[in-house]
Amino acid sequence: MAREFTRVGVVGLGTMGAGIVEVFARNGLDVTAVEISEAALERGRVTLTGSTDRAVAKGKLAEAERDALLARVDFRVGLDALHDVDLVIEAVPEHLDLKQRIFAELDRVCKPEAILATNTSSLSVTEISVATSRPNQVIGIHFFNPAPVMKLVEVVRTVVTSADVVADVEALCERLGKVDVTISDRAGFIANALLFGYLNHAVGMFEARYATREDIDAAMKLGCGLPMGPLALMDLIGLDTAYEILDTMYRRGGRDRRHAPAPLLKQMVTAGLLGRKSGRGFYTYERPGSPKVVPDEYTPPAGDAALADGTRAIAKVGVVGSGTMATGIIEVFAKAGYEVISVTRGAEKSAKVCETVKTSLNKGVVRGKLSETDRDAALGRITWSATLDHLADVDLVVEAVIEELSVKKALFASLDEICKPGVVLATTTSSLPVIDVAMATQRPADVIGLHFFNPAPIMPLVEIVRTIRTSAETSATARAVCATLGKTGVVCGDRSGFIVNALLFPYLNDAVRMLEASYSTADDIDYAMKLGCGYPMGPFELLDVVGLDVSLAIQRELYLELREPGFAPAPLLEHLVTAGYLGRKSGRGFRDHTRR
Ligand SMILES: NC(=O)c1ccc[n+]([C@@H]2O[C@H](COP(=O)([O-])OP(=O)(O)OC[C@H]3O[C@@H](n4cnc5c(N)ncnc54)[C@H](O)[C@@H]3O)[C@@H](O)[C@H]2O)c1
Repeated sequence: MAREFTRVGVVGLGTMGAGIVEVFARNGLDVTAVEISEAALERGRVTLTGSTDRAVAKGKLAEAERDALLARVDFRVGLDALHDVDLVIEAVPEHLDLKQRIFAELDRVCKPEAILATNTSSLSVTEISVATSRPNQVIGIHFFNPAPVMKLVEVVRTVVTSADVVADVEALCERLGKVDVTISDRAGFIANALLFGYLNHAVGMFEARYATREDIDAAMKLGCGLPMGPLALMDLIGLDTAYEILDTMYRRGGRDRRHAPAPLLKQMVTAGLLGRKSGRGFYTYERPGSPKVVPDEYTPPAGDAALADGTRAIAKVGVVGSGTMATGIIEVFAKAGYEVISVTRGAEKSAKVCETVKTSLNKGVVRGKLSETDRDAALGRITWSATLDHLADVDLVVEAVIEELSVKKALFASLDEICKPGVVLATTTSSLPVIDVAMATQRPADVIGLHFFNPAPIMPLVEIVRTIRTSAETSATARAVCATLGKTGVVCGDRSGFIVNALLFPYLNDAVRMLEASYSTADDIDYAMKLGCGYPMGPFELLDVVGLDVSLAIQRELYLELREPGFAPAPLLEHLVTAGYLGRKSGRGFRDHTRR
């Protein structure tokens, strides 16, 4: 017969524990909430009341409901208070010896039939379970941060967890309004195994001064639609917790050096910079525990002050190319008031591009986003040409031709001969080194990457790629142009994948490896990332949209440039591409899109 859960216990009321208490109490369960000291108990109480008060202020919880919720929680110091609970979940710091000690104690204190659960993110549930005399009643219940908000729960079953315990915990998750995925005991389970390599990589980028914290975070939010950037997420998780999770994953997960915690993390933890909970991590917060970021000495100046001296005036822009990107970029510049000269390889292509731009602008009019006058003015600003010579007096050229180095180099050599001095020459390449293109000219200081995202008129992000020869003036000009276009320009170095692709594709590749290892299914992995981390799409949905061939090519580039063993393309990805399963465009990728 299924267990009745009436009273549950939570041990540790930190970042996770306080949220877990809220989840239980909100769903009608009585909770015994336990901490190690009166002071820690008080902090937990403050976190819980702060969170429920915010829910009331936002109209998500009635005052009476809040009062009833809080009345269900019994705050206590010491594990002895847990003698009558039906289930206890532990959420103390991520140290195996500490958790084992607590489980041995819980085994002694709790009723014989009580289920003992851990919220560990990376430690072995099996190793924790053997500290008790009832390993068959020990299970992992891994909530996501913030627990009251995130829908996912990973239920971790060890080889000895009883089937009825798993079933009862799954039913409990449903009662809590959560979606559970049940998996076996492996470091990082689904979501963290895919998330932490990415987070650590982002910290490494910041540590190497490849880009600023604001730019790394903005790139992932605006380029991939993630709810938070990786460094802001690290601050939310807590850098001490993140450090321990990475360290355990490194040791338990095959010593993948991508999980070896970035040295900066250790330094920050030692210095007491733990993220939101201590008031300072990658960012500075209004006070400990507050989600509000306040400016500090690293905050870039806003507005005009951000633009360095020597920014060049740009009025006339040449766009070379006739593909999807070139077409979108022409529209973006024309709408923003620039005079645009479009250069394609012939009148026929120009006519096609012109038609596409018109259609897109008309859509804007139909949707009420653009007036007819503005549409006509934008179209009136575009000149259509089939010769590069017409670019002699433009102030900026944006190249968006085929992704082949020889073609781009030849084009830049021609532009070097044709364009006036002082022009900024930009390439939209997503994978080639910008410096190669720059060195095809006699003016590498004026060459920069402007990596727009598809569809350019909609995506708010542009990666501004500076080579080691790009002048400060050229970068400042590129930033000013992006601002005028209404885009967020993030500045980064000239490395394979820039910010977004370098952080995104290895994660997608890891998801393929996880599927290949039969650890979980494509559906559960997609759920885990959407419901546990708030991603707009799961990795397999995204791979099918982007195209498996495109993804494989990007992953190969990253691997070739960085020689990181963990970046080697997943064999399953290669096989699917060889088999012609390229994703939506071919009707089949990880999923079959021909059936409804
Ligand atoms: N932070 C996250 O995003 C996240 C997400 C999912 C799971 N987890 C996991 O949840 C667990 C807790 O992490 P956290 O981030 O909430 O840590 P935290 O440091 O914010 O909180 C830990 C709490 O445990 C208390 N504690 C320590 N020893 C105790 C004891 N002997 N008895 C009772 N309480 C004790 C501490 O006083 C503290 O309040 C870890 O296993 C972590 O891996 C964390």
